[in-house]
Amino acid sequence: MRRVLSLLVAVVFVFGAMAAVSMAGVNKGAEKYTIDKCQKRKPGVPFNHYQHQAIKGVTCKTCHHKVKEGATPKGCFQCHQCTPGKAPKAMKAFHKTCKGCHAKMKREGKKTGPTSCSKCHVKK
Ligand code: HEC
Ligand code: HEC
Ligand code: HEC
Ligand code: HEC
Repeated sequence: MRRVLSLLVAVVFVFGAMAAVSMAGVNKGAEKYTIDKCQKRKPGVPFNHYQHQAIKGVTCKTCHHKVKEGATPKGCFQCHQCTPGKAPKAMKAFHKTCKGCHAKMKREGKKTGPTSCSKCHVKK
């Protein structure tokens, strides 16, 4: 009887924990990052993650292009390294994603982020 009861308690606990995880939803990551894994020539880039998540029309997939529906995204550097490997190198991935979007919005006359080097690569 004791065994059955403790098993029941364990089952209830596991389901409770699972529900808590699914209620919390996906992990949104940190509010802010400094993207600075490959600095050789330019200083690191401060990035307000939550500000970008809140932009109209932007989804997680806008940047986390490899993420599966409902899964927690991985950091870009897990695949994009400082030198080219299986995935294009980090500088290319970030310039295309970050600068690419800012430049496109600028052409469309919308308020957006910087396209000039020193406004992203901010000296500390
Ligand atoms: C919208 C923001 C943004 C703009 C504008 C931008 N960059 Fe970057 N750049 C980044 C990010 C993010 C990285 C990735 C940083 C890392 O890997 O540590 C990066 C990486 C780099 C790197 C590789 C890291 C290193 O120090 O060797 C170089 C070089 C670089 N950028 C040069 C430039 C130059 C030159 C310009 C202007 C023509 C420019 N960037 C404009 C965001 C930007
Ligand atoms: C404008 C681009 C952009 C958008 C939109 C975005 N992210 Fe991110 N996210 C990043 C960058 C850049 C990093 C830091 C990458 C690094 O340092 O490797 C990051 C990091 C993360 C991390 C940490 C990953 C790790 O293992 O370190 C999580 C989790 C995450 N984001 C979740 C989300 C979720 C959930 C959404 C949608 C609600 C989202 N992100 C939208 C660019 C973005
Ligand atoms: C699971 C591995 C993985 C992760 C995580 C990942 N990428 Fe990629 N990325 C790739 C691969 C592989 C490619 C090559 C084309 C393809 O397979 O889609 C690529 C291509 C790209 C390209 C197109 C580059 C070009 O030359 O056209 C951009 C831009 C990019 N990634 C940005 C990002 C950013 C920004 C993040 C993080 C927010 C990120 N990637 C996270 C694997 C990844
Ligand atoms: C979907 C388009 C889009 C992408 C992708 C994007 N940005 Fe932005 N970014 C914006 C917009 C729009 C703003 C202006 C937000 C505002 O002022 O409310 C902005 C603002 C910024 C600013 C200025 C913040 C401030 O407080 O003045 C920086 C720095 C920046 N982005 C860096 C980045 C970096 C680094 C990446 C890539 C990891 C990135 N952005 C990707 C659209 C984008």
